[in-house]
Amino acid sequence: MSFLTEDQRSIQQLAHDFAQSAVKNKARAAEADPAEMMQLWRQLADMGLAGLAFPETYGGAGADYLSYCCLIEELARVSASLAVMLSVHTTVGILPIFDFGNDAQKNRFLPDLLSGKHIAAFGLTEPDAGSDAGSGDTRAVPNEKGDAYRLSGSKIFITNALTAQIFVVTARSENTPGNKGLSAFIVPRDTTGFSVEKGDAKLGIVGSDWGTLVFDQAEVPAENRLGGGGDGFKIFMNSLNSGRVSIGAMAVGIAQGALDEATKYAKQRQQFGQPIANFQAIQFKLADMATEIAAARHLVYHAARLKDAGQPFLSEGSMAKLYASQAAWRATNEAMQIHGGYGYTTDFAIERYWRDARCLEIVEGTSEIQRLVIARQLLS
Ligand code: CAA
Repeated sequence: MSFLTEDQRSIQQLAHDFAQSAVKNKARAAEADPAEMMQLWRQLADMGLAGLAFPETYGGAGADYLSYCCLIEELARVSASLAVMLSVHTTVGILPIFDFGNDAQKNRFLPDLLSGKHIAAFGLTEPDAGSDAGSGDTRAVPNEKGDAYRLSGSKIFITNALTAQIFVVTARSENTPGNKGLSAFIVPRDTTGFSVEKGDAKLGIVGSDWGTLVFDQAEVPAENRLGGGGDGFKIFMNSLNSGRVSIGAMAVGIAQGALDEATKYAKQRQQFGQPIANFQAIQFKLADMATEIAAARHLVYHAARLKDAGQPFLSEGSMAKLYASQAAWRATNEAMQIHGGYGYTTDFAIERYWRDARCLEIVEGTSEIQRLVIARQLLS
């Protein structure tokens, strides 16, 4: 039983079929081989899924945000790495340009991004500016002619850094302290003075690349500034609001994938002369996981529906991310427990889900930041 529309259901089915037939068997190999991961990206792009929730005018597929969340969920059910690649590309990568770009910027950058020919990344976090995102210290100084900015500084933990052609970043251009001094810039990969360094090895979502963006007097045309001087923080926060719903969808997908694996294993694994699925200790874990996943999915779909309806969804998006990422952590942990010793080996998929889930309570705003956002709305 589903309350999705026929269009939403057909996109969900398309995403499910693609994920199960083309991605699932390759997910682990793609973790170790960037070329394999790019091959999956190309397949996804060829199906028109790299710009799913954007209008056809710019080359998108014209679907709504809820359909896009269903896509992310189905991808994350088999490969969190491919899901996060698309999530960052779509929300925090493309949305700042789509929502805040002028016509020239949209016409120049969106078609290649929506077709998936180009991948987008987003640079906010700095070595000394994480949760306190408004304190970033990357500088943007206008050149003598006033037709370009020179950016100096660095951004760390940037998803898609090694594969993206287009980066949307914040830099301090105004003589105003704190978040009001930040502007947003579109930085193409071939910008002189801009380079990318591979990120440190990480625990999970290892098939998704990340890195450090280094700006050494990088010359960015003034026409690449998004919005007005000092608008950067609000542009990024607005994009993160949508991104957090998408991360919630990812969490639902990972949790569902872990439940799929645990259910299958519980039916196959024989102990004490019978499948372990016969034991209430296992059944109760499966039931709790399924219940929490359903609750998380409702929160995600609700936030997506509000966004599609043009209504505020700030708290609802944070609630979806907060609850779904914690539910995914509990579900993957319980799924590993059901697998016993086998779950701790790399022969089974569950250790990957467990490692991948851990990231979601950190990325795009920690659980603590989501609580802050929700509490501020309650108290305002
Ligand atoms: N949506 C829209 N506007 C927002 C907003 C939001 N979520 N949060 C703040 N604003 C607006 C405020 O309304 C305020 O506007 P006015 O000046 O008009 O009043 C302005 O922005 C400043 O707000 P605050 O004073 O509340 O800002 P703050 O400095 O206290 O920060 C914060 C608020 C919630 C802590 C914010 O800094 C935050 O969300 N931090 C977390 C950052 C984050 O999520 N980082 C993830 C990075 S990306 C990543 O994970 C890697 C990747 O590759 C994807």
